[in-house]
Amino acid sequence: MEAQLLTESKYVRLMQAAKDVRTSAYAPYSHFPVGAAILFSDGEIVTGCNVENASFGLTVCAERSAMCAAVAASKKHPLAVAIAGEEGKLCPPCGACRQFLYEFNPQMTVVLEDAAGLIGYQLSELLPAGFSADELGEEKNKCKN
Ligand code: THU
Repeated sequence: MEAQLLTESKYVRLMQAAKDVRTSAYAPYSHFPVGAAILFSDGEIVTGCNVENASFGLTVCAERSAMCAAVAASKKHPLAVAIAGEEGKLCPPCGACRQFLYEFNPQMTVVLEDAAGLIGYQLSELLPAGFSADELGEEKNKCKN
């Protein structure tokens, strides 16, 4: 993976938003709270946290919960996502979340943090050859917005 050191204040703010929402996580089973914050071109940030369930497989990750909230607010073109898990350790997005976010912008920046600071990846590096509407072939099945 092609890691890039990030120092810009917009990424610092984005990571702070991810840490803030992490306090709302519902993680009584894993005790692993996660927060995600997604940045849009108008500067707006939409956040989400992980939401677990006694039926473990129903757990929703922070990244997907944030992206769902964004779509509900008519925001479908994310520029960057910051993910905050355990303090001082990287919390790379799971495979399902990589694919979920790929739908909306394969080029988006994924902002992570460890003890050394913020690092960024392009989503398409984290998910090479992700599945997209292009693979569906039939024009009528493709999303128009
Ligand atoms: N989790 C996330 O919310 N995002 C990730 O990127 C990795 C994992 C959550 C799912 C589960 O609630 C907990 O972290 C432990 O796997």
